[in-house]
Amino acid sequence: MMDGAGYVTADGRQIGGELLALHNITLRFGGVVAINDISFDIREGEIRAIIGPNGAGKSSMLNVISGFYTPSQGEVRYKGETRPPMKPYEVARMGVARTFQNIALFEGMTVLDNVMTGRLTHMNTGIAQQALWWGRARDEEMENRAKVERVIDFLEIQNIRKTPVGRLPYGLKKRVELARALAAEPSLLLLDEPMAGMNVEEKEDMSRFILDVNDEFGTTICLIEHDMGVVMDLSDRVVVMDYGKKIGDGTPDEVRGNQDVIDAYLGVSH
Ligand SMILES: Nc1ncnc2c1ncn2[C@@H]1O[C@H](COP(=O)(O)OP(=O)(O)OP(=O)(O)O)[C@@H](O)[C@H]1O
Ligand SMILES: [Mg+2]
Repeated sequence: MMDGAGYVTADGRQIGGELLALHNITLRFGGVVAINDISFDIREGEIRAIIGPNGAGKSSMLNVISGFYTPSQGEVRYKGETRPPMKPYEVARMGVARTFQNIALFEGMTVLDNVMTGRLTHMNTGIAQQALWWGRARDEEMENRAKVERVIDFLEIQNIRKTPVGRLPYGLKKRVELARALAAEPSLLLLDEPMAGMNVEEKEDMSRFILDVNDEFGTTICLIEHDMGVVMDLSDRVVVMDYGKKIGDGTPDEVRGNQDVIDAYLGVSH
């Protein structure tokens, strides 16, 4: 059961306390209310899914968490503190990494260089420092390289590390984007439709990597996914959105049995 100290999942994993909490978040774009007074939390070690029909406000929600959008109303709590409005790079520095619904990689750069960009938030030495104190910049570079190589091994993309991303098939690009996010060593990993457009085999691979990341690094994951089979298999708890509102929140079994959720998916008129 769930309490302040966490809960144990059906497959026996220990979930911790609150990592991030959204309180009464509303996001407006002119007259459009993309998010309408939504609250939920994400706990340490959890795999949390956000589902809902097209235009429900799922990506907008991820964009609020990652600092790409500032909510019109409401509070974001992260690691026990209220988070003031922040720029995306500031949120990234606090340990939040993401992938995008539409892949956002540097197509002309190699896989290795793309994954290296994931380390940018950890790079402290600027140009001046590099000139004055070469040793420190070099140590930092070595450390960044080592971490990137570990991620590349983990996601089994060693054989394409020197390949320009533009030449890769779609499924592998998605994996490279995951690698770049992981290179940042995030506490919270946000994945916006990591399996969209993939074939069955690619989906199975991606599902396995997501579970392995959670298991191996203890990374808390919040993902948006349309494939209900995948959601039910992967996630510990699910938030269901429809027209900017939260219409369900619970374990996969709980939301599957929720009449509002069933109606939303069957397209019952509101
Ligand atoms: N930058 C923006 N400017 C104006 N309206 C926006 C913007 N971003 C999102 N919206 C609107 O907010 C609503 C929610 O969009 P959002 O992209 O969050 O939905 P979604 O659940 O991710 O949908 P999908 O499953 O299609 O990706 C939509 O009506 C969308 O048109
Ligand atoms: Mg979306």
